[in-house]
Amino acid sequence: MDYTEVLCDDIDSWKTIMFLYKSALKEITTKIDILNDEFQHVHQYNPIEHVKSRIKTPESIVKKLKREGYESTIDNMVKCINDIAGVRITCSFTSDIYRIAEIITKHSDLKVLMVKDYIKNPKDSGYKSYHLVVSVPIFMSDKVIDTKVEIQIRTIAMDFWASLEHKIYYKFEGNAPENIQNELKECADMISMLDAKMLSLNEAIKQSEKNNTKKDS
Ligand code: GTP
Ligand code: MG
Repeated sequence: MDYTEVLCDDIDSWKTIMFLYKSALKEITTKIDILNDEFQHVHQYNPIEHVKSRIKTPESIVKKLKREGYESTIDNMVKCINDIAGVRITCSFTSDIYRIAEIITKHSDLKVLMVKDYIKNPKDSGYKSYHLVVSVPIFMSDKVIDTKVEIQIRTIAMDFWASLEHKIYYKFEGNAPENIQNELKECADMISMLDAKMLSLNEAIKQSEKNNTKKDS
């Protein structure tokens, strides 16, 4: 069952919709917690540094609908906004991002609705991150409702850049002077170099650990 049918049937209240999004966030964050625990248990390694989740505020839902030319209705909000429920996963290395994305997308109860790889194809701003929109089934007493969640996966370095750029973007209300935009892009390149260097350093450390274990045995 999808939202459209539900809205036409019996769910017309904002509270019920918000309950669904909150439940979807719980489902996804539990999956991520379990995934991280399992990595720790099997590989003695935590691929995830931290996880943040949030529900979009009513003000920002209305703002986004207006910006995209839609009337502020519950129907439009459910159909047109993918990030009412959002989870951000921050990892150590770029390789962890793809590993986590692959595992999550294989969960048989999830439907992947959209994938945007801003790591392979960065935005003009320099923004890098891996975005997934999935739907998760929410089991209610008399029905099951697929509910959308946006999952953003990025490294600590990408997250550092994105949060500073976001602040600057707001300071200039989206119209930062060109020199600032150019400097931000330069910073994004430095961040990418740092990520690549950290990844190769980590690979070298892992290789030397392997060699030492071989020597010892
Ligand atoms: P919105 O950007 O939210 O309107 O959605 P969209 O459909 O354009 O999706 P997109 O994948 O482009 O962006 C979704 C989210 O990614 C945003 O809400 C931000 O959290 C983040 N994001 C996208 N572009 C940028 C960017 O240039 N800078 C920063 N800091 N964050 C960005
Ligand atoms: Mg956008």
